[in-house]
Amino acid sequence: MIDFHSHFLPGIDDGADSVSVSLAMLDAWRVQGISTIAATPHFYATRNDPVRFLSDRADAYEQLKCVFDNTVYPDVRTWPDIRLGAEVHFFDGISRYDGLHELCLEGTDLLLLEMPFRTWTSRMVDEVGLISASTGIKPVAAHIERYLDQPRSLVKAFLDLDICFQSNAEFFLSGATSRKALKMLKRGTITFLGSDAHNMDGRPVNLGPAVEVIKRSLGRSFVEDLTRRQYETINDYVSVAI
Ligand SMILES: [Fe+2]
Repeated sequence: MIDFHSHFLPGIDDGADSVSVSLAMLDAWRVQGISTIAATPHFYATRNDPVRFLSDRADAYEQLKCVFDNTVYPDVRTWPDIRLGAEVHFFDGISRYDGLHELCLEGTDLLLLEMPFRTWTSRMVDEVGLISASTGIKPVAAHIERYLDQPRSLVKAFLDLDICFQSNAEFFLSGATSRKALKMLKRGTITFLGSDAHNMDGRPVNLGPAVEVIKRSLGRSFVEDLTRRQYETINDYVSVAI
């Protein structure tokens, strides 16, 4: 299982604020049996200079790697694989933005895209649809469950786009939304799951418990198929950019 959405790199956004928190989060993923984690710090085109963002992300990752390389932690080799990425907040002109490939999940053309929480317009939905055509990048809409109360026609148009959808573990863990989450997963609307973990307390690593809910409701083989589909999607979008 891949955790496609997380904020555990130290000191780069509102996620982990130290290497020790990052390590504790990584250990939580290991214990929960999550094999791959996308490190997706927030990227806001209005606030972040892309060159600086990539440099800060590399520095944050290097801090963790230093611990890996000099570690006293015995289980380091069993820790999940880490893939660098970003959670890119939608902005006007994103479909024509030159720097999107560098923000995709490392080695792929998959882009974790966060939509605005304000009321959408049809122009915004249309622009997301243009991203693939103009850049070859496949958007993965982050925590789709947060947008289901947008205007009905726009939600339908958004779900009809040829993009992927990610939902947070919380969607499956909350009694109020679990049925809806399982229905969307079973229907194939949701491809990727994520903890959207920021720390060890308020917004913790919780994908493992969500996977258990899915296993209990839809069966172990469903989870195995979903995991296979996730890795196939990543392989289908291996970047051809030089
Ligand atoms: Fe996030």
